[in-house]
Amino acid sequence: MKRRLVAGNWKMNGTNASMTELQQLAAAYPSASTDILICPPATLIARAADLTADSAIRIGAQDCHPAPSGAHTGDISAPMLADAGATAVIVGHSERRENHDESSALVAGKASAAHASGLTALICLGESLAEREAARTLDIIADQLAASVPDTATDADTVIAYEPIWAIGTGLTPSPAQIAEVHDFIRARLGGRFGPDAAGSFRLLYGGSVNPSNAAAIFAIPNVDGALVGGASLKASDFSPIINALE
Ligand code: G3P
Repeated sequence: MKRRLVAGNWKMNGTNASMTELQQLAAAYPSASTDILICPPATLIARAADLTADSAIRIGAQDCHPAPSGAHTGDISAPMLADAGATAVIVGHSERRENHDESSALVAGKASAAHASGLTALICLGESLAEREAARTLDIIADQLAASVPDTATDADTVIAYEPIWAIGTGLTPSPAQIAEVHDFIRARLGGRFGPDAAGSFRLLYGGSVNPSNAAAIFAIPNVDGALVGGASLKASDFSPIINALE
């Protein structure tokens, strides 16, 4: 039985003062029946990993460079993240695809780099509002999935996060039927590529305005194996009820 996963993406939020939130979470979850991941900004990864070492909380990063080292000023490589204590890294978030013009090919390179360093890659996919309104959602997801997930990916080192761009930070969420349609589609596509058994074992997260009030309903949707949470992961008092909805 695969373990479900609740991941928090702090985005460009958090300083040393935010570690109190992490300490509260670590104290609340010395162990857990689900996987719990917090992805703080890179500046906090090492400290966050130390603070959560004796808890069920694991620490992830929000991006990595595809190369292991080199002349890439300002970038951070997967081996560096692993060295700092991260166990996972988000790649292909729509904010990076948009703000940094990241292509799916680059995202696949980042995922491969993560795998080579023993990190789980959380690969994000999602359509814009214009794409949904043009009935192109499944085409976009198919293209992003095909090009962003490396051929060597396995259910053990890769998690897929469906994050409709129009639902991120807006308070809007797709209907359960809309989430189910995309998650079923992703599962089927993974089956076509990796075989049905492996496809069933990949964890598929939903992300976009998940909060303590809607988490349980989202987790009840078939083929939803957890969530990638933004704003509601910043405070332990918001994130804990989301974890508890899955526990
Ligand atoms: O990666 C998480 C994300 O983009 C969702 O953000 O604030 O809508 O939960 P939020």
